[in-house]
Amino acid sequence: MRHLLGTEHLSRENAIAILDTAEEMAAVGEREIKKLPALRGRTVVNLFFEDSTRTRISFEAAAKRLSADVINFSAKGSSVSKGESLKDTAQTLEAMSADAVVVRHWASGAPERLAGSGWIDAAVINAGDGTHAHPTQALLDAFTMRAHWSKLAGVSSVGGDLAGMRVVIAGDVLHSRVARSNVWLLRTLGARVTLVAPPTLLPVGVESWPCKVSYDLDTTLEAGVDAIMMLRVQAERMNASFFPSTREYARRWGFDDARLARLDALNFKDTIIMHPGPMNRGLEISSAAADSPRSTVLSQVRNGVSVRMAVLYLLLSGDLRDTPSAPTPPAGQLAKDHS
Ligand code: CP
Repeated sequence: MRHLLGTEHLSRENAIAILDTAEEMAAVGEREIKKLPALRGRTVVNLFFEDSTRTRISFEAAAKRLSADVINFSAKGSSVSKGESLKDTAQTLEAMSADAVVVRHWASGAPERLAGSGWIDAAVINAGDGTHAHPTQALLDAFTMRAHWSKLAGVSSVGGDLAGMRVVIAGDVLHSRVARSNVWLLRTLGARVTLVAPPTLLPVGVESWPCKVSYDLDTTLEAGVDAIMMLRVQAERMNASFFPSTREYARRWGFDDARLARLDALNFKDTIIMHPGPMNRGLEISSAAADSPRSTVLSQVRNGVSVRMAVLYLLLSGDLRDTPSAPTPPAGQLAKDHS
């Protein structure tokens, strides 16, 4: 496997290899000297055509901890504003000897284009493209869940998956590459996923995804949940009104103080609350929930560095196999799951 473009075709074997390697990278992060010489002499280019805080900084930290040279490119302030194309931009950066190109782009499919075009030889890692995919976010989310549940069970997480875990992903699914990448990866790792959203914020064709779908957050939570992942309302991608008001959205689909208290009342003591960031506090998540002991928001950021170290290391060392993609569940199963 030369590139990491999404999770839909990421095999279970490669996903577990990335999560296990990330465990080792996390152990390095605990040391006084956090650097490894693994990618000395290699160059990683961060090619960002869209804004980012967590992903860009985290890839930079990951590459530096592996002793790679890092070139950061941001479309803002570059010759992209003069009309330079993705191809010319990428080839310019590769002329500086890039071994890996980490690309975030507003257009869904841009990383595939880069990887499949023959324009560049470098490994391509998708750092988020349009509404399509954000594979390293899904991997760091899976890492965070696996670490939590392994700790509760008192077992090593190495080699483990998320079999049987109940994950609710709630909010603006329509615009969320995080939701798409999580649904596919969580399916591969054996978790049971329910998407919860207003009907207007669900994409056409969601019934073919390997998950359940609901419009009612309270009923879904009360049925039992191990992890609730709140999605950001992506106002910048909305060109119409998708819900009556922010107040109405927060009341029906936000993880607010009342729902936080409900988890305690239901004695769901081990349920975690996740969010990929950046958060709209008071809209899809209340401050009390975001800052509660159940929240894994900052652990997710921390784990992102380890996961991205693992991805860079495994791709550049050629240690990920070209295994077939995970099997798609039979259509009957999908229909049964969609309620
Ligand atoms: N979660 C995430 O992708 O955050 P950034 O947009 O800040 O990178």
